[in-house]
Amino acid sequence: MKNSERYDFDTPVERRGTASLKWERYGSRDIIPMWVADMDFQSPPEVLKAIVNRAAHGVFGYTLPPEELNDRTVSMLKKAYDWVVDPEWLLWLPGLVSGLNVACRAVGQDGDDVMTAVPIYPPFLTAPGFSRRNLVKVPLKEDDGRWQFNFDRLEKMITDKTRMFILCNPHNPVGRVFKRSELAELAAICHKYNIVICSDEIHCGLIIDKDKVHVPTAALAPEIADRTITLMAPSKTFNTPGLGCAFAVISNRKLRKQFKNAMAGIVPMPNALGYAATMAAFSECADWHEALLNYLRANLETVSGAIQQMPSLSIAPVEATYLAWIDMRDSGLKNPVKFFEEAGVGLQDGIEFDGPGFARLNFGCPRNLLRKALDRMKTAMDNLNTQPGQAGIED
Ligand SMILES: Cc1ncc(COP(=O)(O)O)c(C=O)c1O
Repeated sequence: MKNSERYDFDTPVERRGTASLKWERYGSRDIIPMWVADMDFQSPPEVLKAIVNRAAHGVFGYTLPPEELNDRTVSMLKKAYDWVVDPEWLLWLPGLVSGLNVACRAVGQDGDDVMTAVPIYPPFLTAPGFSRRNLVKVPLKEDDGRWQFNFDRLEKMITDKTRMFILCNPHNPVGRVFKRSELAELAAICHKYNIVICSDEIHCGLIIDKDKVHVPTAALAPEIADRTITLMAPSKTFNTPGLGCAFAVISNRKLRKQFKNAMAGIVPMPNALGYAATMAAFSECADWHEALLNYLRANLETVSGAIQQMPSLSIAPVEATYLAWIDMRDSGLKNPVKFFEEAGVGLQDGIEFDGPGFARLNFGCPRNLLRKALDRMKTAMDNLNTQPGQAGIED
């Protein structure tokens, strides 16, 4: 047996009664939660062991980022992406969403414009406003079912107040791993107009399409690194979002200082267990990581196969993440999320991502549970086709 085959992602772990955000939403209702982006799997055994060992010490005073954590993070970035990072460039954070909001406050002035491409993970839509900046939304375009930047439109929407572009790569919710050429084109535009790039790369460890590679935006060229705030975390890949540990990489000293100033007094340091988990995740979990990706690949095939059986729904290729962005515009459903909740499946509404007519399905769960949810969706769609007068369908 290969090392990567010794992990069990099939056996369900009961999450009800653990105050899980994902599972509490529906209480005792028989709705399978497939919305928020965490997985129903345990973290790697090495991560569990590191947390237990740290907990056994029993003293949980204020804890600095251990030097070894910086070293392991820098080694991971070099090994995974051939990206050379100086430990000094790292700033530890309790979460990526904090990082997005800090980035918006760190760059420019009140009233400046912050741009992003939609649909997008909801905190991208709120961070500029929370920071007294204007949000400027450039729609991604769909070409042959593949989501792309619309560079012409993007460049036209830049004003003399545009200070920052918040990028999501790999992209949540459309699942793209942007190619080097696409990133280079975006970065060239930002360079031309002196725009800082905040690059959220939280999903970079979840490359599902074996032909794709993650390119950190800051690794494109030194002059791009100079205008980039990269945000990363182990939390999506190793399923530790409840442990609150993330980091920013900022090579530009001035920008790093601005970011630090914006954090001051508001952003706490990560917790001691988060550091311990991250150290193990970045250096001891390669086999588990490979096994997870293989499991998610098979789950994605299950999702794709099932969606093909529901002719009015479709998904674009998922190159990364465990999230499928389902196009429901041809279904005639007025409120697809409500419709599927009534059928026992809890999806996340595209409206929250500025993507009406779509819904997001999280397939990071044991395959049997996934199959059960997809069967429920299929039955609901079949019933809809045989009973077109049913509630939820457009008159
Ligand atoms: C693109 C993106 N950024 C950030 C986050 C959340 O980050 P955190 O939990 O570290 O705040 C998520 C969670 O789904 C995400 O998809």
